[in-house]
Amino acid sequence: MTTITKLSARVSRMLEEVLQGLKEPQKSLPSKYFYDKRGSELFEQICELDEYYPTRTELSIMRDNIDEITDQLGSKIQLIELGSGSSLKTRLLLDHLPEINSYVPVDISNDFLADVVENLQREYPLLDIIPVAADYTKPFDLPEADLDARRVAYYPGSTIGNFTKEKAADFIALLADLLGDNGGLLIGFDLLKDRDTLINAYDDAKGVTAKFNKNILRRINRELAADFDVDSFEHRAFFNEEKSRIEMHLVSQKDQQVDIMGTVIHFSKGETIHTENSHKYSLESFREITAPHFQPQKTWTDKKEMFTVQFLTK
Ligand code: AVJ
Repeated sequence: MTTITKLSARVSRMLEEVLQGLKEPQKSLPSKYFYDKRGSELFEQICELDEYYPTRTELSIMRDNIDEITDQLGSKIQLIELGSGSSLKTRLLLDHLPEINSYVPVDISNDFLADVVENLQREYPLLDIIPVAADYTKPFDLPEADLDARRVAYYPGSTIGNFTKEKAADFIALLADLLGDNGGLLIGFDLLKDRDTLINAYDDAKGVTAKFNKNILRRINRELAADFDVDSFEHRAFFNEEKSRIEMHLVSQKDQQVDIMGTVIHFSKGETIHTENSHKYSLESFREITAPHFQPQKTWTDKKEMFTVQFLTK
């Protein structure tokens, strides 16, 4: 009974969000819907590509500086990971935080959280893991921390880049609220760099990113009983200079219409669905969105200055 109610609430929310985006003059889809099982697999393949530098660069920054990073965080912390969890980066932190108070993975998917808890608890039997199922982009409650435990949010992967600059600033404000007075934020973000490097990272030679982009249509076909002719959409990635972001789109190759649970959406040939933004920051432009609430304490980068990991406190 509960499962059925939950499922239909989830599907109706998805339907609502999908239709809302497709009814705008510039059609769009929420990028969070990339990550079904197949989409998550494709994202893992993206992370292995020569052209896609962010994941391996962030991991190497973490590895090269892990002692300094964990010194900054402090020892008796409540580590709150926003999204994902159980990655190599998480393990690296946990391995170097022997006095951690608790680990709080926050994710929208209960199933995903259950897997994370099961796997991590096996590897870290003494770790106090307190999963929180929530959409972390909206206000949510955290478990009580010991009086002397400091809350530190961990937001790796340049996921902040998916928000527009305005939304990113709102999100930083929400975190400031959530973390309390002595809270900290460890965050990874991608740096502005030459256009070719950026575009190649989102339009790889093997076409994995194209598959990843198109998979969102397959998912909508399956989960919302839609009839997208997936092969009639093409992947496009370009750098929007003014907004300092990579945009991914799906370009309709013909005039066509698509039925999504009874709602018909029309596409003209050449019309696009905007599926993702990936904002690229400089230290200065990142400072603009964090400065109202946080001070940077320490900033780490790689030799080529491709990516940044920063620790900030309130
Ligand atoms: C997981 C959001 C950080 O924007 O680089 C990779 C997703 N999209 N290739 C990014 C993504 C296309 C990725 N993030």
